[in-house]
Amino acid sequence: MKQADTKVEKGDDSLQQYISKTPASQEAFKRAARVVPGGNSRQAGYWAPYPLTIKNASGAWVTDTDGNRYIDLLNNYTALVHGHAYAPITDAVAKQIGNGTCWAAINEAQTDLAEQLTNRVSSIEQVRFTNSGTEAGILALIIARETTGRQKILMARGGYHGSLLEFESGFFGKPGPMTYLGEYGDSDSFRHQLKQHGDEIAAVFLEPVMGASGIIAASPEFLNEVKQATHEAGALFVLDEVLTFRLAEGGRQQTLGFDPDLTTFGKLIGGGFPVGAVGASRELMRIFDPADLKAFHTGTFNANPVTMVAGSASVRELTAERIEIMERQAGQLKNGLIDIARETGLALTINHVGSLLNLFFTDKQGGIHHDRDDLDIIRRFHLACLNEGLFIAPRGLMALSTVFDDALIEQCLEKAKKAMQQTAREIA
Ligand SMILES: Cc1ncc(COP(=O)(O)O)c(C=O)c1O
Repeated sequence: MKQADTKVEKGDDSLQQYISKTPASQEAFKRAARVVPGGNSRQAGYWAPYPLTIKNASGAWVTDTDGNRYIDLLNNYTALVHGHAYAPITDAVAKQIGNGTCWAAINEAQTDLAEQLTNRVSSIEQVRFTNSGTEAGILALIIARETTGRQKILMARGGYHGSLLEFESGFFGKPGPMTYLGEYGDSDSFRHQLKQHGDEIAAVFLEPVMGASGIIAASPEFLNEVKQATHEAGALFVLDEVLTFRLAEGGRQQTLGFDPDLTTFGKLIGGGFPVGAVGASRELMRIFDPADLKAFHTGTFNANPVTMVAGSASVRELTAERIEIMERQAGQLKNGLIDIARETGLALTINHVGSLLNLFFTDKQGGIHHDRDDLDIIRRFHLACLNEGLFIAPRGLMALSTVFDDALIEQCLEKAKKAMQQTAREIA
Protein backbone atom coordinates (compact mmCIF):
# COMPACT_ATOMS: atom_id res chain seq x y z
CA MET A 1 0.00 0.00 0.00
CA LYS A 2 1.32 3.44 -0.95
CA GLN A 3 2.17 5.42 2.18
CA ALA A 4 1.23 9.04 2.83
CA ASP A 5 2.69 11.32 0.19
CA THR A 6 4.11 14.11 2.32
CA LYS A 7 6.01 15.91 -0.41
CA VAL A 8 5.19 19.62 -0.06
CA GLU A 9 5.16 21.97 -3.05
CA LYS A 10 6.46 25.51 -2.50
CA GLY A 11 3.68 27.74 -1.14
CA ASP A 12 1.64 24.86 0.25
CA ASP A 13 2.08 26.23 3.77
CA SER A 14 -1.10 24.73 5.24
CA LEU A 15 0.02 21.28 4.18
CA GLN A 16 3.49 21.88 5.66
CA GLN A 17 1.97 23.05 8.93
CA TYR A 18 -0.47 20.13 9.04
CA ILE A 19 2.41 17.65 8.67
CA SER A 20 4.43 19.45 11.36
CA LYS A 21 1.51 19.46 13.82
CA THR A 22 0.50 15.82 13.37
CA PRO A 23 3.55 13.49 13.48
CA ALA A 24 1.76 10.91 15.63
CA SER A 25 -1.21 10.86 13.23
CA GLN A 26 1.23 10.34 10.36
CA GLU A 27 2.82 7.38 12.16
CA ALA A 28 -0.60 5.96 13.07
CA PHE A 29 -1.66 6.25 9.43
CA LYS A 30 1.47 4.43 8.20
CA ARG A 31 0.77 1.58 10.60
CA ALA A 32 -2.93 1.46 9.63
CA ALA A 33 -2.26 1.60 5.88
CA ARG A 34 -0.12 -1.53 6.05
CA VAL A 35 -3.16 -3.59 7.03
CA VAL A 36 -6.16 -1.49 5.95
CA PRO A 37 -6.22 0.00 2.41
CA GLY A 38 -6.03 3.78 2.78
CA GLY A 39 -5.68 3.26 6.53
CA ASN A 40 -9.45 3.51 6.86
CA SER A 41 -12.64 1.57 6.17
CA ARG A 42 -14.53 4.53 4.74
CA GLN A 43 -13.59 6.76 1.83
CA ALA A 44 -15.35 9.70 3.51
CA GLY A 45 -12.85 9.48 6.39
CA TYR A 46 -9.83 9.94 4.15
CA TRP A 47 -8.01 13.06 2.97
CA ALA A 48 -4.49 13.59 1.67
CA PRO A 49 -1.78 13.31 2.80
CA TYR A 50 -3.32 11.27 5.66
CA PRO A 51 -6.33 11.71 7.94
CA LEU A 52 -5.97 12.45 11.63
CA THR A 53 -6.14 9.66 14.13
CA ILE A 54 -8.58 10.75 16.83
CA LYS A 55 -7.94 9.58 20.37
CA ASN A 56 -11.00 10.88 22.19
CA ALA A 57 -14.05 13.05 21.78
CA SER A 58 -16.38 14.83 24.16
CA GLY A 59 -19.18 17.33 23.56
CA ALA A 60 -18.25 19.57 20.63
CA TRP A 61 -14.54 18.70 20.76
CA VAL A 62 -12.27 15.96 19.40
CA THR A 63 -8.61 15.41 20.32
CA ASP A 64 -6.08 13.76 18.01
CA THR A 65 -3.27 11.43 18.94
CA ASP A 66 -0.81 14.37 18.94
CA GLY A 67 -2.96 16.13 21.55
CA ASN A 68 -4.34 18.79 19.13
CA ARG A 69 -7.95 19.79 19.93
CA TYR A 70 -10.60 20.58 17.33
CA ILE A 71 -14.14 21.92 17.44
CA ASP A 72 -16.10 19.21 15.65
CA LEU A 73 -18.17 20.96 12.99
CA LEU A 74 -18.82 17.73 11.11
CA ASN A 75 -20.23 15.42 13.79
CA ASN A 76 -19.55 12.23 11.88
CA TYR A 77 -21.20 13.54 8.74
CA THR A 78 -24.30 14.72 10.66
CA ALA A 79 -24.89 11.52 12.68
CA LEU A 80 -23.88 12.95 16.08
CA VAL A 81 -26.65 15.49 16.43
CA HIS A 82 -25.85 15.83 20.16
CA GLY A 83 -22.06 15.84 19.76
CA HIS A 84 -19.77 13.27 21.39
CA ALA A 85 -20.31 11.25 24.55
CA TYR A 86 -23.66 12.96 25.22
CA ALA A 87 -24.67 11.98 28.78
CA PRO A 88 -28.30 10.88 28.09
CA ILE A 89 -26.92 8.52 25.43
CA THR A 90 -23.84 7.24 27.28
CA ASP A 91 -25.91 6.67 30.46
CA ALA A 92 -28.52 4.66 28.53
CA VAL A 93 -25.83 2.66 26.72
CA ALA A 94 -23.83 1.93 29.90
CA LYS A 95 -26.97 0.67 31.60
CA GLN A 96 -27.88 -1.48 28.60
CA ILE A 97 -24.40 -2.97 28.23
CA GLY A 98 -24.61 -4.18 31.83
CA ASN A 99 -27.85 -5.95 30.92
CA GLY A 100 -26.55 -7.64 27.77
CA THR A 101 -25.94 -6.41 24.26
CA CYS A 102 -27.83 -8.65 21.83
CA TRP A 103 -30.04 -11.70 21.59
CA ALA A 104 -32.18 -13.42 18.97
CA ALA A 105 -35.50 -12.19 20.34
CA ILE A 106 -37.33 -8.89 20.87
CA ASN A 107 -36.04 -6.01 23.04
CA GLU A 108 -38.31 -3.21 24.25
CA ALA A 109 -35.90 -0.45 23.23
CA GLN A 110 -36.62 -1.38 19.60
CA THR A 111 -40.33 -0.79 20.19
CA ASP A 112 -39.56 2.55 21.93
CA LEU A 113 -37.57 3.79 18.95
CA ALA A 114 -40.10 2.48 16.42
CA GLU A 115 -42.90 4.26 18.36
CA GLN A 116 -40.96 7.51 18.36
CA LEU A 117 -40.36 7.33 14.61
CA THR A 118 -43.93 6.41 13.74
CA ASN A 119 -45.27 9.13 16.08
CA ARG A 120 -43.03 11.77 14.53
CA VAL A 121 -43.28 10.87 10.84
CA SER A 122 -46.87 10.89 9.63
CA SER A 123 -46.23 8.87 6.43
CA ILE A 124 -45.06 5.75 8.29
CA GLU A 125 -46.92 3.20 10.39
CA GLN A 126 -44.21 0.58 10.81
CA VAL A 127 -40.42 0.39 10.65
CA ARG A 128 -37.77 -2.27 10.21
CA PHE A 129 -34.22 -1.61 11.49
CA THR A 130 -30.88 -2.28 9.78
CA ASN A 131 -27.25 -1.53 10.63
CA SER A 132 -26.58 1.33 8.19
CA GLY A 133 -28.26 3.82 5.89
CA THR A 134 -26.94 1.79 2.97
CA GLU A 135 -28.74 -1.30 4.25
CA ALA A 136 -31.88 0.78 4.73
CA GLY A 137 -31.68 1.69 1.04
CA ILE A 138 -31.20 -1.98 0.15
CA LEU A 139 -34.21 -2.93 2.27
CA ALA A 140 -36.36 -0.23 0.64
CA LEU A 141 -35.30 -1.67 -2.72
CA ILE A 142 -36.24 -5.19 -1.57
CA ILE A 143 -39.71 -3.91 -0.62
CA ALA A 144 -40.09 -2.11 -3.95
CA ARG A 145 -38.91 -5.14 -5.94
CA GLU A 146 -41.25 -7.48 -4.11
CA THR A 147 -44.18 -5.07 -4.43
CA THR A 148 -43.76 -4.22 -8.12
CA GLY A 149 -42.05 -7.32 -9.52
CA ARG A 150 -39.49 -5.00 -11.16
CA GLN A 151 -35.77 -4.65 -10.48
CA LYS A 152 -34.34 -1.24 -11.41
CA ILE A 153 -34.16 2.16 -9.76
CA LEU A 154 -34.32 5.76 -10.88
CA MET A 155 -32.40 8.32 -8.84
CA ALA A 156 -30.88 11.78 -9.21
CA ARG A 157 -27.50 12.35 -10.80
CA GLY A 158 -25.28 13.18 -7.82
CA GLY A 159 -27.75 11.72 -5.32
CA TYR A 160 -26.38 9.45 -2.60
CA HIS A 161 -28.20 6.56 -0.97
CA GLY A 162 -25.29 4.43 0.22
CA SER A 163 -22.35 2.29 -0.70
CA LEU A 164 -24.13 -0.11 -3.06
CA LEU A 165 -23.37 -0.37 -6.77
CA GLU A 166 -26.92 0.61 -7.80
CA PHE A 167 -26.70 3.82 -5.73
CA GLU A 168 -23.04 4.64 -6.36
CA SER A 169 -23.42 4.76 -10.12
CA GLY A 170 -25.92 7.59 -9.59
CA PHE A 171 -23.64 9.36 -7.16
CA PHE A 172 -20.80 9.28 -9.67
CA GLY A 173 -23.19 10.57 -12.32
CA LYS A 174 -23.28 7.50 -14.58
CA PRO A 175 -26.31 5.33 -15.25
CA GLY A 176 -25.52 1.67 -14.42
CA PRO A 177 -27.03 -1.69 -15.39
CA MET A 178 -29.65 -1.31 -12.64
CA THR A 179 -29.83 2.48 -12.42
CA TYR A 180 -31.47 5.22 -14.47
CA LEU A 181 -30.78 8.87 -13.71
CA GLY A 182 -32.80 12.07 -13.65
CA GLU A 183 -31.64 15.62 -12.98
CA TYR A 184 -32.32 16.86 -9.45
CA GLY A 185 -34.88 19.66 -9.47
CA ASP A 186 -36.05 18.86 -13.02
CA SER A 187 -39.22 16.76 -12.80
CA ASP A 188 -39.45 16.52 -16.63
CA SER A 189 -36.21 14.55 -16.71
CA PHE A 190 -37.68 12.05 -14.22
CA ARG A 191 -40.97 11.92 -16.14
CA HIS A 192 -39.01 11.22 -19.31
CA GLN A 193 -37.09 8.31 -17.74
CA LEU A 194 -40.30 6.89 -16.28
CA LYS A 195 -42.04 7.10 -19.66
CA GLN A 196 -39.14 5.32 -21.37
CA HIS A 197 -38.29 2.69 -18.74
CA GLY A 198 -41.24 2.72 -16.32
CA ASP A 199 -41.99 -0.98 -16.74
CA GLU A 200 -38.50 -1.85 -15.42
CA ILE A 201 -38.36 0.61 -12.53
CA ALA A 202 -39.28 -0.65 -9.05
CA ALA A 203 -38.57 2.57 -7.17
CA VAL A 204 -37.55 6.18 -7.48
CA PHE A 205 -35.10 7.23 -4.76
CA LEU A 206 -34.66 10.90 -3.86
CA GLU A 207 -33.16 12.91 -1.02
CA PRO A 208 -35.24 15.93 0.03
CA VAL A 209 -31.89 17.77 0.35
CA MET A 210 -28.95 16.33 -1.59
CA GLY A 211 -26.23 15.97 1.03
CA ALA A 212 -23.16 14.52 -0.65
CA SER A 213 -23.62 16.87 -3.59
CA GLY A 214 -23.43 19.90 -1.33
CA ILE A 215 -26.72 20.60 0.57
CA ILE A 216 -29.03 21.24 -2.36
CA ALA A 217 -32.69 21.51 -1.38
CA ALA A 218 -35.63 20.19 -3.42
CA SER A 219 -38.91 22.08 -3.67
CA PRO A 220 -42.12 20.31 -2.63
CA GLU A 221 -43.38 20.87 -6.20
CA PHE A 222 -40.47 18.90 -7.65
CA LEU A 223 -40.96 16.02 -5.20
CA ASN A 224 -44.72 15.92 -5.77
CA GLU A 225 -44.39 15.98 -9.55
CA VAL A 226 -41.85 13.13 -9.47
CA LYS A 227 -44.04 11.18 -7.05
CA GLN A 228 -47.04 11.53 -9.34
CA ALA A 229 -45.04 10.33 -12.37
CA THR A 230 -43.65 7.48 -10.25
CA HIS A 231 -47.14 6.31 -9.31
CA GLU A 232 -48.38 6.65 -12.88
CA ALA A 233 -45.55 4.29 -13.87
CA GLY A 234 -46.59 1.85 -11.13
CA ALA A 235 -43.38 2.31 -9.10
CA LEU A 236 -42.80 3.30 -5.46
CA PHE A 237 -41.34 6.57 -4.19
CA VAL A 238 -38.54 6.28 -1.59
CA LEU A 239 -37.57 9.43 0.31
CA ASP A 240 -34.07 9.16 1.78
CA GLU A 241 -34.10 10.96 5.15
CA VAL A 242 -30.85 9.40 6.37
CA LEU A 243 -29.24 12.84 6.52
CA THR A 244 -32.29 15.10 6.69
CA PHE A 245 -34.19 13.66 9.63
CA ARG A 246 -32.28 16.16 11.82
CA LEU A 247 -34.00 19.09 10.04
CA ALA A 248 -37.43 18.80 11.72
CA GLU A 249 -39.03 16.59 14.38
CA GLY A 250 -40.88 14.77 11.61
CA GLY A 251 -38.00 14.94 9.13
CA ARG A 252 -37.76 17.13 6.06
CA GLN A 253 -41.03 15.63 4.77
CA GLN A 254 -42.85 17.35 7.64
CA THR A 255 -41.51 20.76 6.60
CA LEU A 256 -42.35 20.13 2.95
CA GLY A 257 -45.75 18.53 3.63
CA PHE A 258 -44.67 15.59 1.49
CA ASP A 259 -45.79 11.95 1.86
CA PRO A 260 -43.48 9.34 0.34
CA ASP A 261 -44.34 5.63 0.03
CA LEU A 262 -41.18 4.58 1.87
CA THR A 263 -38.75 6.53 4.03
CA THR A 264 -35.17 5.53 4.84
CA PHE A 265 -33.43 6.66 8.03
CA GLY A 266 -29.94 6.33 9.50
CA LYS A 267 -27.27 8.39 11.23
CA LEU A 268 -28.84 10.26 14.20
CA ILE A 269 -31.45 7.57 14.94
CA GLY A 270 -28.59 5.35 16.22
CA GLY A 271 -27.24 7.93 18.68
CA GLY A 272 -23.68 7.30 17.44
CA PHE A 273 -24.05 3.55 16.88
CA PRO A 274 -24.49 1.73 13.54
CA VAL A 275 -28.09 2.02 12.34
CA GLY A 276 -30.55 2.32 9.52
CA ALA A 277 -34.32 1.93 9.21
CA VAL A 278 -37.08 1.80 6.63
CA GLY A 279 -40.54 3.11 7.42
CA ALA A 280 -43.75 2.74 5.42
CA SER A 281 -47.46 1.95 5.65
CA ARG A 282 -48.58 -1.30 7.28
CA GLU A 283 -49.73 -2.44 3.86
CA LEU A 284 -46.28 -2.14 2.28
CA MET A 285 -44.56 -3.65 5.33
CA ARG A 286 -46.89 -6.67 5.28
CA ILE A 287 -44.37 -8.54 3.12
CA PHE A 288 -42.32 -9.13 6.28
CA ASP A 289 -45.28 -10.56 8.23
CA PRO A 290 -44.02 -13.98 9.41
CA ALA A 291 -47.55 -15.41 9.03
CA ASP A 292 -47.52 -14.61 5.31
CA LEU A 293 -43.85 -14.08 4.50
CA LYS A 294 -43.08 -12.62 1.07
CA ALA A 295 -39.63 -11.09 1.63
CA PHE A 296 -36.85 -12.37 3.83
CA HIS A 297 -35.11 -9.80 6.01
CA THR A 298 -32.83 -10.68 8.89
CA GLY A 299 -29.51 -9.58 10.41
CA THR A 300 -27.55 -10.65 13.48
CA PHE A 301 -27.28 -7.15 14.91
CA ASN A 302 -30.48 -5.58 13.53
CA ALA A 303 -32.19 -3.52 16.25
CA ASN A 304 -29.69 -4.62 18.88
CA PRO A 305 -30.65 -3.10 22.23
CA VAL A 306 -27.48 -0.99 22.56
CA THR A 307 -28.15 0.87 19.30
CA MET A 308 -31.85 1.07 20.14
CA VAL A 309 -31.39 2.72 23.58
CA ALA A 310 -28.81 5.11 22.11
CA GLY A 311 -31.10 5.93 19.20
CA SER A 312 -34.11 6.37 21.45
CA ALA A 313 -32.25 8.90 23.59
CA SER A 314 -30.89 10.68 20.52
CA VAL A 315 -34.32 11.07 18.91
CA ARG A 316 -36.09 11.95 22.18
CA GLU A 317 -33.57 14.72 22.91
CA LEU A 318 -33.89 16.23 19.43
CA THR A 319 -36.73 18.65 20.13
CA ALA A 320 -38.20 21.24 17.78
CA GLU A 321 -36.70 23.95 20.00
CA ARG A 322 -33.19 22.53 19.68
CA ILE A 323 -33.59 22.09 15.93
CA GLU A 324 -34.52 25.78 15.72
CA ILE A 325 -31.50 26.84 17.81
CA MET A 326 -29.15 24.85 15.54
CA GLU A 327 -30.73 26.46 12.49
CA ARG A 328 -30.24 29.95 13.96
CA GLN A 329 -26.62 29.18 14.86
CA ALA A 330 -25.96 27.79 11.38
CA GLY A 331 -27.33 31.07 9.96
CA GLN A 332 -24.96 33.02 12.24
CA LEU A 333 -22.07 30.85 11.06
CA LYS A 334 -23.03 31.29 7.42
CA ASN A 335 -23.30 35.09 7.67
CA GLY A 336 -20.02 35.31 9.57
CA LEU A 337 -18.22 33.17 7.00
CA ILE A 338 -19.58 35.23 4.11
CA ASP A 339 -18.37 38.44 5.83
CA ILE A 340 -14.92 36.95 6.42
CA ALA A 341 -14.67 35.81 2.79
CA ARG A 342 -15.60 39.31 1.62
CA GLU A 343 -12.94 40.89 3.87
CA THR A 344 -10.36 38.35 2.69
CA GLY A 345 -11.23 38.75 -0.99
CA LEU A 346 -12.27 35.12 -1.52
CA ALA A 347 -15.36 34.22 -3.56
CA LEU A 348 -17.60 32.09 -1.34
CA THR A 349 -21.05 30.54 -1.81
CA ILE A 350 -22.65 28.65 1.06
CA ASN A 351 -25.56 26.26 0.67
CA HIS A 352 -27.54 26.27 3.92
CA VAL A 353 -30.50 24.21 5.09
CA GLY A 354 -31.27 24.06 8.82
CA SER A 355 -28.20 22.90 10.74
CA LEU A 356 -26.28 21.99 7.56
CA LEU A 357 -23.87 24.13 5.53
CA ASN A 358 -21.68 23.40 2.52
CA LEU A 359 -18.99 25.85 1.43
CA PHE A 360 -17.95 26.41 -2.18
CA PHE A 361 -15.19 28.88 -2.99
CA THR A 362 -16.89 30.22 -6.08
CA ASP A 363 -19.41 32.86 -7.17
CA LYS A 364 -21.54 30.19 -8.86
CA GLN A 365 -24.79 29.35 -7.10
CA GLY A 366 -25.86 25.75 -6.56
CA GLY A 367 -22.59 23.90 -6.50
CA ILE A 368 -22.69 20.21 -7.31
CA HIS A 369 -19.84 18.43 -5.59
CA HIS A 370 -18.56 16.62 -8.71
CA ASP A 371 -18.54 19.68 -10.91
CA ARG A 372 -16.79 21.95 -8.45
CA ASP A 373 -13.93 24.06 -9.73
CA ASP A 374 -12.52 25.04 -6.32
CA LEU A 375 -10.87 21.74 -5.42
CA ASP A 376 -7.46 23.28 -4.77
CA ILE A 377 -8.87 26.08 -2.60
CA ILE A 378 -11.15 23.82 -0.57
CA ARG A 379 -8.24 21.40 -0.01
CA ARG A 380 -6.09 24.24 1.35
CA PHE A 381 -8.94 25.66 3.43
CA HIS A 382 -9.73 22.26 4.94
CA LEU A 383 -6.11 21.77 6.06
CA ALA A 384 -5.91 25.38 7.28
CA CYS A 385 -9.08 24.81 9.36
CA LEU A 386 -7.54 21.68 10.90
CA ASN A 387 -4.39 23.66 11.70
CA GLU A 388 -6.56 26.21 13.52
CA GLY A 389 -8.47 23.51 15.40
CA LEU A 390 -11.65 23.35 13.32
CA PHE A 391 -12.79 19.92 12.11
CA ILE A 392 -14.89 20.10 8.91
CA ALA A 393 -15.38 17.77 5.94
CA PRO A 394 -12.74 17.94 3.20
CA ARG A 395 -15.57 18.89 0.82
CA GLY A 396 -16.68 21.84 2.97
CA LEU A 397 -19.67 20.26 4.75
CA MET A 398 -20.47 21.54 8.25
CA ALA A 399 -23.15 20.09 10.55
CA LEU A 400 -23.97 21.58 13.93
CA SER A 401 -24.88 19.67 17.05
CA THR A 402 -27.18 20.60 19.94
CA VAL A 403 -24.23 21.11 22.31
CA PHE A 404 -23.02 24.25 20.52
CA ASP A 405 -23.63 27.62 22.14
CA ASP A 406 -23.28 31.08 20.62
CA ALA A 407 -19.80 31.54 22.14
CA LEU A 408 -18.61 28.38 20.38
CA ILE A 409 -19.98 29.67 17.07
CA GLU A 410 -17.86 32.79 17.62
CA GLN A 411 -14.83 30.57 18.24
CA CYS A 412 -15.54 28.70 15.00
CA LEU A 413 -15.64 32.03 13.16
CA GLU A 414 -12.34 33.18 14.68
CA LYS A 415 -10.69 29.94 13.59
CA ALA A 416 -12.29 30.04 10.14
CA LYS A 417 -11.11 33.64 9.72
CA LYS A 418 -7.48 32.66 10.30
CA ALA A 419 -7.90 29.67 7.97
CA MET A 420 -9.42 31.82 5.22
CA GLN A 421 -6.69 34.46 5.57
CA GLN A 422 -4.08 31.70 5.26
CA THR A 423 -5.84 30.24 2.20
CA ALA A 424 -6.04 33.67 0.56
CA ARG A 425 -2.28 34.18 1.12
CA GLU A 426 -1.50 30.80 -0.43
CA ILE A 427 -3.48 31.30 -3.61
CA ALA A 428 -2.51 34.98 -4.09
C1 LIG B 1 -28.59 10.58 2.12
C2 LIG B 1 -27.82 9.36 2.54
N1 LIG B 1 -28.35 8.14 2.33
C3 LIG B 1 -27.71 7.02 2.69
C4 LIG B 1 -26.47 7.07 3.29
C5 LIG B 1 -25.76 5.81 3.67
O1 LIG B 1 -25.71 5.67 5.05
P1 LIG B 1 -24.55 4.79 5.72
O2 LIG B 1 -23.27 5.54 5.55
O3 LIG B 1 -24.99 4.66 7.15
O4 LIG B 1 -24.54 3.48 5.02
C6 LIG B 1 -25.88 8.33 3.53
C7 LIG B 1 -24.55 8.42 4.16
O5 LIG B 1 -23.89 9.43 4.15
C8 LIG B 1 -26.56 9.49 3.14
O6 LIG B 1 -26.04 10.71 3.34
